[in-house]
Amino acid sequence: MLMNATDLASLQQQLAGANPRTILKAALSAFDKIAISFSGAEDVVLIDMACRIRENIEVFTLDTGRLHPETYRLLEDVRKRYPIRLRVMFPDPAGIEAMVQAKGLFSFYEEGHQECCRLRKVDPLKRALLGLDAWITGQRRDQSADTRQDLPEVQLDPAFATPQRPLIKFNPLAGWDSRKVWDHIEAYDVPYNELHRRGYPSIGCEPCTRSVLPNQHAREGRWWWEAGQKKECGLHVTHSKT
Ligand code: ADX
Ligand code: SF4
Repeated sequence: MLMNATDLASLQQQLAGANPRTILKAALSAFDKIAISFSGAEDVVLIDMACRIRENIEVFTLDTGRLHPETYRLLEDVRKRYPIRLRVMFPDPAGIEAMVQAKGLFSFYEEGHQECCRLRKVDPLKRALLGLDAWITGQRRDQSADTRQDLPEVQLDPAFATPQRPLIKFNPLAGWDSRKVWDHIEAYDVPYNELHRRGYPSIGCEPCTRSVLPNQHAREGRWWWEAGQKKECGLHVTHSKT
């Protein structure tokens, strides 16, 4: 189903501040062509909740080729545990080969992460979104005061919607904090990435993620060599007012 601006505005009003289950239920009943994007703890919580609402949930993950072994194990644990249809998206080999041939395997430390993230994450995301009318992410407002503080529960995708294709994006955990996520994980014995036990609150690719100290912000371990607070890879455009 495609959604017009009036329907979206009324859904936004209805779901503002709603709990994640209500948001997921509304998303799954409004759209047949909808999928959960999965990489981390928040996403498994959403998969766990969605599987209690309906069967055959579509899920996709972007395998960049640079994930931690622990992350691959989590992907497999989740695939076995839940009755989902998991699509694993890979980057286009020609683009990766050309970049690595020209610049080596760690060009992001010298040139910034944009080109590598575009080839390994954003382009495969675009392919995963083809054929979908809506997608669901595990983003939370409190993950970044600079880029996610205004994140709504549901929105026209600010990066990938077009006038011909009004792609809708749901962020059911927008209003949750990390404690609520981990309460759900414990209460329902939800699988999680072993790296969380070793000081990694936010996990991306292996060369671009490191552990943080007790009082550091979760995202300080992501692309840590880059200055500035607006650490995003292009899957989600920023929601800051600046
Ligand atoms: S990122 O843009 O900085 O990498 P983050 O790790 O905070 O994103 O994750 C936010 C949400 O983006 C996740 O909850 C998930 O929905 C989606 N996401 C991030 N990385 C991936 C991935 N590799 N595959 C699928 N979805 C992803
Ligand atoms: Fe490449 Fe790092 Fe981006 Fe992963 S997070 S796609 S390794 S730059």
